[in-house]
Amino acid sequence: MSDLKRVTSLLAGDMAAFKPKFRAAVTTDVALLDTVMRYILRRKGKQMRPMFVFLSARLHGGVDAQGAATDQAHTAAALIELLHTATLVHDDVVDESPLRRGVFSIQALWKKKVAVLVGDYLLSRGLLAAVDAEAFDLLKITSRAVREMSEGELLQIEKARRLDITEEVYFDIIRRKTASLLAACCACGAASAGADDDTVQKMWGLGERVGLAFQIQDDLLDLGEGDRTGKPTGQDIRERKMTLPLIHTLAKATPSERRRLIRLVKHKSEDPAAVKEVMDAILAGPGMERARSEMRRLKEESLALLNELGGHDAVSTEARDALRDLIEYTIRRVQ
Ligand code: IPE
Ligand code: IPE
Ligand code: MG
Ligand code: MG
Repeated sequence: MSDLKRVTSLLAGDMAAFKPKFRAAVTTDVALLDTVMRYILRRKGKQMRPMFVFLSARLHGGVDAQGAATDQAHTAAALIELLHTATLVHDDVVDESPLRRGVFSIQALWKKKVAVLVGDYLLSRGLLAAVDAEAFDLLKITSRAVREMSEGELLQIEKARRLDITEEVYFDIIRRKTASLLAACCACGAASAGADDDTVQKMWGLGERVGLAFQIQDDLLDLGEGDRTGKPTGQDIRERKMTLPLIHTLAKATPSERRRLIRLVKHKSEDPAAVKEVMDAILAGPGMERARSEMRRLKEESLALLNELGGHDAVSTEARDALRDLIEYTIRRVQ
């Protein structure tokens, strides 16, 4: 596994300060909501997005006199992690997934009604965190990501009905549903440090490439054994999601093999044996290497962009080195 030591030591103070801010952002006097929030706070996830925000801010010199993250960077980090959490709660309703972060999902424990409302609540608290800080620029960037995420999830549902999607459509879906939020992390981090519009736009492009690679890796992990991710595997086939390894395997398969796999996904996605059969075919097929090579390409592109961004002082250089490690990690992650 990739080494995150440089990232965690550089961001130790920022992430420690982030924790109570995030907690404070979800306080409520509604007992049911409070119970759910406590449950969510106990399993915090990898918190990659706040890390991308803080490092992107540092890359552009955004630290205070003590070398800590600024209030603006904290606002961006809280806003984005709240939005991210909202989308996970909603995504598990959409995907009917029973597990998240190694424990029961909110929709499995409290049912869909509660999960839908909790997701909305988290979204509203995220937006309010930015409004309270009068961070209009951050709001503008993240609202675009929220819009794209909803479009991406809906586009995915639309395409799940037709199983003949192309790689181009796949990339369009994951760009919207996942990459847009990582793009927002990098863009908001830079914006919080006062970077100009052109730089913020370039940081969006960098984060977008990382986000695309991250979702490809997530799709590969869904084909893995066991639940290293704290999420069920095989979920994508059960939900008839067309992912890159499957799309490419189908594209390269003989007509009869192709018909066989499509029939299994189309009519037997509820049957565990059929899901396993499709997973085995993908694991043995050419789609795995295709997915890995696309990840490598996106990683190289994002690292090349990174080399051209930010200053050359000690703070920026340290941040750039840490960002390289974080990019490697998001692509090689095993959980
Ligand atoms: C999961 O994101 C959702 C995807 C976009 C694949 P993460 O893997 O970053 O989720 P947590 O926050 O660490 O649980
Ligand atoms: C990620 O897609 C979509 C989100 C924006 C949450 P997935 O449905 O593959 O995410 P996981 O695997 O449930 O985290
Ligand atoms: Mg899901
Ligand atoms: Mg997934």
